[in-house]
Amino acid sequence: MILRSGRLNKEMTEEAAEFTSSLEADKEIFYADIKCNFAHTTMLKEENIIDSDIADKILDALLKLKEEGYDVLDFNPAVEDIHMAIENYVTDIVGPDAGFMHTAKSRNDQVATDIRLVLRDKISDIQNDILDFMDNLVDMADNYKESVFIGFTHLQHAQPITIAHHLMAHVQALKRDYQRLSDTYKRVNLNPLGSAAMTTTSFPINRELTTKLLGFDGYLENSMDGVSSRDFAAEAIFDLTSLCTTLSKICEELILWSTYEFGVIKMDDAYCSTSSIMPQKKNPDVAEVARSKATRVNGELITVLTMLKALPYTYNRDLQEITPHLWRSFKESKAVLSIVSKMLLSVSFNEDRCLELAGKNFATATDLADIMVRERKIPFRTAHKIVGRVVNEATSQGLEATDVTSKFVDDVAEELGFDKLNLDEKLVNNALNPLENVKMRKVPGGPSPEMVTLAMNHIKEFIKEERGE
Ligand code: ARG
Repeated sequence: MILRSGRLNKEMTEEAAEFTSSLEADKEIFYADIKCNFAHTTMLKEENIIDSDIADKILDALLKLKEEGYDVLDFNPAVEDIHMAIENYVTDIVGPDAGFMHTAKSRNDQVATDIRLVLRDKISDIQNDILDFMDNLVDMADNYKESVFIGFTHLQHAQPITIAHHLMAHVQALKRDYQRLSDTYKRVNLNPLGSAAMTTTSFPINRELTTKLLGFDGYLENSMDGVSSRDFAAEAIFDLTSLCTTLSKICEELILWSTYEFGVIKMDDAYCSTSSIMPQKKNPDVAEVARSKATRVNGELITVLTMLKALPYTYNRDLQEITPHLWRSFKESKAVLSIVSKMLLSVSFNEDRCLELAGKNFATATDLADIMVRERKIPFRTAHKIVGRVVNEATSQGLEATDVTSKFVDDVAEELGFDKLNLDEKLVNNALNPLENVKMRKVPGGPSPEMVTLAMNHIKEFIKEERGE
């Protein structure tokens, strides 16, 4: 063994070797490690730190390994990690001169570099998935701009909205999930290479060059920080917990909306199961499993933060244990994102039922109060009181909002000791009609079809820009 034969007198026990090896999880950083070695060796050659012929042999061996792939490596757990496995491979081809590759480099800065290289790709990859979902969701919402639906607060009927407005709320949340990842990317895309074990090196390495070769935006300016910081990993996982929260909320709604009681959507059979005993059942199992799987990444975040919180500077092998949690977080989140996007996009809305709900339970009452404020200049709190009593009276008489007339309002107002309001009958009708009610909410951010269209256009522009179209 290249590594142990100097300082140590014997091999680890098989159990200890297996226990501490990161080879399995290191699959993820295989190509990044080749890339990192390639950039480092190129730089050593350019700066005349190592012999040019030797450097070329090392670079050729690295290219050969890239062609042949991970499986040609020696997977003996005693090999500790991918860095040693790659170095062993290069040594088999080049001979002892392969050892020059490790000049002015440590596995500590190397692994930190590899993780950042892979992570930035994974961030971009999941960001593309988020953009696709947003894009499709905007198209779906476009079909429902005039489809009135009920909005909830406290899961109680609140005010009329449109299906489009509701779907677009999810799009806005997804946009922030996307932007959070963009922000994290800036902190990920920095080069630790050159930090070496923890204090850089006395060789005149060129960190600008490796930064450029590896496509980083800059290099980390403290070598101790360079080898041991993993807050960028915790941050990326947090971004995923936020994304998964958005997705889990979507699942929760699909589950509620598909109940007999809500009756608002029909889920595609492809995302439902039935019961082994109750033949009538259609259960939203995929949404339920996604809702639960979405929480896994929360666990990964706490695990990683807890691993980090008590580590003294600088490198500790504990850091190795963080990496698999990072990759797992991406794998889980990507799977949840994929299934939830397909599931939501395949839902069909029962528009009649949505409209029916929007007209029930005096969801339009706020606008009746608004008319009083606008037309009769009475304070909103007074209007709120009169309308509250109108709803109370109407409900006890078994009436719905659309049955309420101007006279009905005046009777209640007088009973409460206020003057008659004499509101225009048409105004009252419009305010209490859910579609008219929604159309009146023309303020930016509101559910009126024109405002939803405006928001949709902004999102479409955002998507185009982010895709570089
Ligand atoms: N497998 C290690 C990791 O993932 C690589 C760095 C090992 N460094 C060391 N000094 N043992 O962190």
